[in-house]
Amino acid sequence: MKLLAIETSCDETAITVLEGTGDTTHADFRILGNALLSQIDIHREFGGVFPAVAKREHAKNIVPMLHASLSNAGLLREETRTLSESEIQTITEILSREPETAAALIAFLSQYAVPDIDVLAVTHGPGLEPALWVGVNFTRALAHAWQKPIVGVNHMEGHLLSALATPNPDDDRAFSLTNITLPVLGLLISGGHTELVLMESWLSYRLVGRTRDDAVGEAFDKAGRMLGLPYPGGPEISARAEKSRAEGRTELPVLPRPMLHDDSCDFSFSGLKTAVRYRIPDLVGDNEMTEEVREILSHAFEDAAGDVLLAKTLRALEATNAQSVALGGGVSANNHIRTIFAQKLAETHPHINLFLPEFRFCTDNAIMIGIAGFFHALQEKYIPAAELRANGNLRLTEHS
Ligand code: KG4
Ligand code: ZN
Repeated sequence: MKLLAIETSCDETAITVLEGTGDTTHADFRILGNALLSQIDIHREFGGVFPAVAKREHAKNIVPMLHASLSNAGLLREETRTLSESEIQTITEILSREPETAAALIAFLSQYAVPDIDVLAVTHGPGLEPALWVGVNFTRALAHAWQKPIVGVNHMEGHLLSALATPNPDDDRAFSLTNITLPVLGLLISGGHTELVLMESWLSYRLVGRTRDDAVGEAFDKAGRMLGLPYPGGPEISARAEKSRAEGRTELPVLPRPMLHDDSCDFSFSGLKTAVRYRIPDLVGDNEMTEEVREILSHAFEDAAGDVLLAKTLRALEATNAQSVALGGGVSANNHIRTIFAQKLAETHPHINLFLPEFRFCTDNAIMIGIAGFFHALQEKYIPAAELRANGNLRLTEHS
């Protein structure tokens, strides 16, 4: 099965052509074509992602990404086509909120033959709704023009399922999903989410725990901003914490580990973020922020955040019959968090299989949307184009 997967939930416009074979016991994937454009440099000026700017950039870049991805896959074949009046009208209507995308898509469709694609997979939530709508409307227009079925993918599901991929050491375009023992406990950690979900059967999820306030990635980003670091704060904090750890710094301010001893599998990160704010004057006094203070607080913050994530995951393991643990989302790129999970689980739960996503699957991408889309298509969970909607608050645990 060849999927064209589209991701526009936040600040990356990404389109991948992914080929999948097999089923849930063993699936092989091959990335045929991949194109991704990050808007991060644009948003950095604002210190965060601005929905209207994200939408504008997606609308501008989505047809070029389609071209790049299909061309990379060798699926772009020039063939002049004259679109009928009604075809042009339907595409214009579907993309009425993105007129520039409609014009670019009509020009594209007039120039290239229908590619050898079986299914369109698109992120329909959660994320920034204006940004999501660009991908959703674009997919609806493509489905109409090419007469292809659509599967809708939850962005967090993409993060979770891509974490389960086993890379092929000889070929970076190939990977498999195999030897996965259910239930899988997923720790989904990103800029908008911090939740523990249990995948008891394929594509069916139960919520085990979640943050009661900030997401952990959001806490990293806000702490980064307090330390005068550029957006996104996660990688900036991580780099400084690593440096401090490598230097063997042990004298660290003790930051709180919120809800560590509470019985639930829920999290809270806003107190940790606030504690960083209160520590800054103690360390800086009347002087300017120094790189040393940044390193100390990054180190203390990352230790505290990692401890809470690990402790709650261990608690969730006790509370469920999970056989595997998978980390997914932007924060799962964090080296310290990956290391403490690998060490602790090997020590205390050697029978549990820990899946850490490849770095390319940690940040937003369309490959993961293709992976999840493949399993949706296997179950024939197609969504009629007219019913497909973007939902900024789409929940993983509501759909099964
Ligand atoms: O999944 P993602 O790319 O976008 C969302 O769906 O939110 O996650 C982005 C989040 C940001 O908060 C970013 O600071 C964080 O992931 N992040 C990290 C690291 N790399 C990205 N946090 C900690 N350590 C990292 N190395
Ligand atoms: Zn994400």
